[in-house]
Amino acid sequence: MPMTPTSEAPATYRLIDGKQTAEDIKVEIAAEVVQRKAAGQKPPHLAAILVGHDGGSETYVRNKVLACERVGFESTLLRYEDTITEAELLAKVDELNQDEQIDGFIVQLPLPKHIDPNKVIEAIRPEKDVDGFHPMNIGRMVAGLPALLPATPSGIVELLRRYELVTDGKHCVVIGRSNIVGTPVSILLAKNLEPGNCTVTLCHSRTQNLAEITRTADILVAAIGRPGFVTADMVSPGAVVIDVGTTRVEDATKKAGWALRGDVSFEDVAPKASYITPVPGGVGPMTIAMLLLNTLRAAKGEIYPR
Ligand code: GUN
Repeated sequence: MPMTPTSEAPATYRLIDGKQTAEDIKVEIAAEVVQRKAAGQKPPHLAAILVGHDGGSETYVRNKVLACERVGFESTLLRYEDTITEAELLAKVDELNQDEQIDGFIVQLPLPKHIDPNKVIEAIRPEKDVDGFHPMNIGRMVAGLPALLPATPSGIVELLRRYELVTDGKHCVVIGRSNIVGTPVSILLAKNLEPGNCTVTLCHSRTQNLAEITRTADILVAAIGRPGFVTADMVSPGAVVIDVGTTRVEDATKKAGWALRGDVSFEDVAPKASYITPVPGGVGPMTIAMLLLNTLRAAKGEIYPR
């Protein structure tokens, strides 16, 4: 399928099914775990630290633990009240660093205001940093060295790969410069990799004439956490649209009273796109699949030989 924008809107668009793609990846991981177990190796073991009771974080961490079970990993969930001090949390991180049973671990963000997330991230041993947030992993990624890559950006790249979408020479516009998504995805897509080799424009809250820029995108990545922000007038006909937003918005029709909403106004934008990720079921499930893949890599000592 060509993905170069044309002057006419495509008659149909294709959904990029992140849920199915994540399932495929989990099946591949599970098969490798079975092989490793048959060869007498222990299953990979992921630990997650969750501080406080943020609804979104609870859901994400629960899904991460469930995903571990699905692929035959071991998992450990460590929960702390939001009264935990920074020093106490750093001590817990160090325990996991030293624990030889744990191959990789994450500290779910956001953390309470009295805890500096950067201090916590820097305290994680890079070889166990399966979120790919540690400056060592970020630096290695930027330098083009093997690294544990941040899960959401590598999930986006994996979707582009598995849907065989051409990225080489295309203009990718990223909205949002967060450390977790916008900045790393812009770096990965600019690299001389496949997928990659994009010309990347990274837009943010100070960008002027945003819609003018986004209209030149062959690939548009929205990662700002503002529900429905990207509207049809901001999208070129035939663009590939990747929606990273997952904001909870009130929805009385849902049992929970809320629904997940992406950064893209889906109904408005989809008819103009060639390919688009839904929310939910797009990038979100891929983040978990790539976290599992990082944990497997950490267990194998693939990036940092043991
Ligand atoms: N908060 C939002 N996304 C993430 C993620 O990918 N990892 C962690 N640890 N926290 C998050």
